[in-house]
Amino acid sequence: MRALVISPGEARSTRVADVAEVSARNGEVPVRPLEVGVCGTDREMSEGLFGIAPEGDDFLVLGHEFVGVVERDGHGFARGDLVTAIVRRSCGHCLACGEGAPDSCLTGDYSERGITRLHGFARELFAEDPAQLIGIPRVLGRLGVLVEPASICERAIRHARSIGGRQPWELQRALVIGAGAIGMLSTYLLRLAGLEVWTAALDSADDPRADLVTASGARYVSTPVEPLAALVEDVGGFDLVIEAAGNAELMAAMLGMLRRSGVACLIGIDPRVQRVELDGRVIGVDTVLGNRVLFGSVNANRVDWLAAVSSLDRARKRWPDVLPQFVGLRVPLDRFEDAFDYRGVKATLVLQE
Ligand code: BGC
Repeated sequence: MRALVISPGEARSTRVADVAEVSARNGEVPVRPLEVGVCGTDREMSEGLFGIAPEGDDFLVLGHEFVGVVERDGHGFARGDLVTAIVRRSCGHCLACGEGAPDSCLTGDYSERGITRLHGFARELFAEDPAQLIGIPRVLGRLGVLVEPASICERAIRHARSIGGRQPWELQRALVIGAGAIGMLSTYLLRLAGLEVWTAALDSADDPRADLVTASGARYVSTPVEPLAALVEDVGGFDLVIEAAGNAELMAAMLGMLRRSGVACLIGIDPRVQRVELDGRVIGVDTVLGNRVLFGSVNANRVDWLAAVSSLDRARKRWPDVLPQFVGLRVPLDRFEDAFDYRGVKATLVLQE
């Protein structure tokens, strides 16, 4: 069957290849992916910077964001049910994984579908452990492809709330840096929660992504026009800042964007070898006197996947014309290069119409 694969570690090895058929073994559910999302991690893997093949294989099937359809009744699922699947799997030997939280794995020996040691979902059919499947309501339809990135945002916000909530705290104003899929979904989740939100990115105010931001009731800030420092000065600091642009320079500056008891959360990745600067007084004085925190968040727990399904459904009801615009490009598998080059919110590979 056809699949999108890479040779891990080899730049530009991404190709559509013929891979072995899979048949669902006892206890597994056969799933046919309809659409697979492409994200920054896929691009990094495609550049040979990330990704590990499963043991015994020299290739890795990509795809960790998908919506698919169950092929056969069984294990609590019915033929035709829409599903997606949890990406990260237990390392089998740490406290966090033992407690059902591989998103907090303590060893780093976890595996991730389509990323590390496990083939992904960009293929015509695969078999899955039913415990890893997440049901998607029929009304959400193909927007279910957004559940994976939304689960990443859900976890980050859940952790931010729990860190901020260690002391009396009012979460009122948030700044989201970046207007890609993670920035956009974070913006919408925070708007659903009733926060006042500013979303900042490099694009000008007439970019379609700016329109998507404002459609949620958030304010769009084009940073070449209004630099973040000026915005912070103007607003008076934020309770929550989320970095979803993948810029380490900005990440260092985030502690300086918080008001008292503020929490800054890093979700973007910046693998460049570089030194970043931080005003010593921000970390040496303001962070201490203001009880501020900077933390990172990766992956998602099952609770976040379930929260993502329910939030996307609420967002679909509240912004019915807007949410479908998040997926701005849909191409067949062999046009994967167009999906990788796409710079809107989300591009997907269509495996089945
Ligand atoms: C995925 C996460 C994964 C992370 C690191 C992200 O793109 O959404 O599930 O944990 O990459 O591999």
